[in-house]
Amino acid sequence: MKIAVVGTGYVGLVAGACFAEIGNTVWCVDKDEAKITNLEAGLLPIYEPGLPEMVAKNVANGRLHFSAALQPALAQAELCFITVGTPPRADGAADLSQVYTVAQEIGQLLDHHLIVVNKSTVPVGTAEIVRSIIAQELKRRGQENVTFAVVSNPEFLREGRAINDFMRPDRVVIGTDSNEAAKIMKELYQPIVRDQHPLLIMDIKSAELTKYAANAMLATRISFMNEIARLCDKVGADVNRVRQGMGADGRIGLQFLDAGAGYGGSCFPKDVKELIHTGRKYGLEMAIIQAVDQVNERQKHYLAEMIGRYFGDNLAQKKFALWGLAFKPETDDIREAPALAIIRSLVHRGATITAYDPQAIPQAKVALTGCGGRLFYAENKMAALDDADALILVTEWQEFTQPDFAEMKRRLRQPLIFDGRNQYDPVGMAALGFEYYCIGRGY
Ligand code: UGA
Repeated sequence: MKIAVVGTGYVGLVAGACFAEIGNTVWCVDKDEAKITNLEAGLLPIYEPGLPEMVAKNVANGRLHFSAALQPALAQAELCFITVGTPPRADGAADLSQVYTVAQEIGQLLDHHLIVVNKSTVPVGTAEIVRSIIAQELKRRGQENVTFAVVSNPEFLREGRAINDFMRPDRVVIGTDSNEAAKIMKELYQPIVRDQHPLLIMDIKSAELTKYAANAMLATRISFMNEIARLCDKVGADVNRVRQGMGADGRIGLQFLDAGAGYGGSCFPKDVKELIHTGRKYGLEMAIIQAVDQVNERQKHYLAEMIGRYFGDNLAQKKFALWGLAFKPETDDIREAPALAIIRSLVHRGATITAYDPQAIPQAKVALTGCGGRLFYAENKMAALDDADALILVTEWQEFTQPDFAEMKRRLRQPLIFDGRNQYDPVGMAALGFEYYCIGRGY
């Protein structure tokens, strides 16, 4: 099939490359000319394992193209995916202006039948607005005879594992009121839909809401476990053991029950807030979802609170090493990352921090300019430890899971670790001579 993908952010690039990989001809469109120039030169705006290779391969075989203008892409497309950003506004609602602008441009250019597929994460009712914007533009141009269908096709990709999630999806959700669009979407996804992993066709509003409900459910599991972890710390229980005991129940399962320093990223925090906002719009108080958000905000400060209990509130003479700035491993994304909240809180209390992350230091340098003078960056994880009063581990990158503890002891002023991702065994750490504090395991 011939596909235009508008917006070369995370979702658009992954979807565009993967659709090309399974045999379609794809034009990835972005208004940002510098971005397009870079993409044409093989420079990607995000770090995602496997994506540069897949992009290069499909550019070389002529199935993947980049364009700063929508017109040439749209002129050939049977399907047009909208994959632009929907960042949160100050009131928690998603800012849909980029989605509406693309809809308007489609309406201004369209001269043949098109299936418009919304893949951006958008609140319930957005597809209807997209439909009316395109229809209005066609009418204004006297082109009411040009037909189009609107589809909601939310994405469920995880950063760092996006290629696998796209190529081996647990499910594909298609929301549409058009039989013809449903048939074409089924054909498009046919190469990657596996046995036991359904392609679900439903009405548009249910598809739109599925995305938010899924993310809110996952965020709920995390906040639930973080609350249980706090109780574990009070009563002297071990949250990892509680997780195993709970998760062995097939109805509960083990996934997304890891207590930690709180969830971050561009999705959970934003989508949870948007769901609260949507509820409010319809006169509903989303009590559980609100609590999920509150628990997470509090959890991001848990490590900093622990450090305060250990060293007192004035940290002016203290120097910390911090491992992990990205909101999770295998990404350079620091949006809503717990590390930012922890660094700001410690620096505010006078501490000096040397941070290390395998990918996210350039992003952190931009986001944390306010911490200048008290925040430094190390070239590798061991160098960050030199003369530090303690190590704070915030992101569980693979290279932090089995470090050389003897070297760490030599470099740190004292063998003290605050671990926000429960990476090490407390008994083993005690045997190695470390004072080790983690989340929900009896501190
Ligand atoms: C999330 C969803 O997992 C995807 O299905 C969805 O498509 C995506 O949002 C989106 O809406 O675009 P992502 O934000 O990439 O994906 O990251 P996750 O792997 O889900 O992790 C989110 C956060 O939760 C991270 O900060 C992670 O450290 C934290 N987390 C995750 C925990 O604290 N505990 C867990 O058990 C799991």
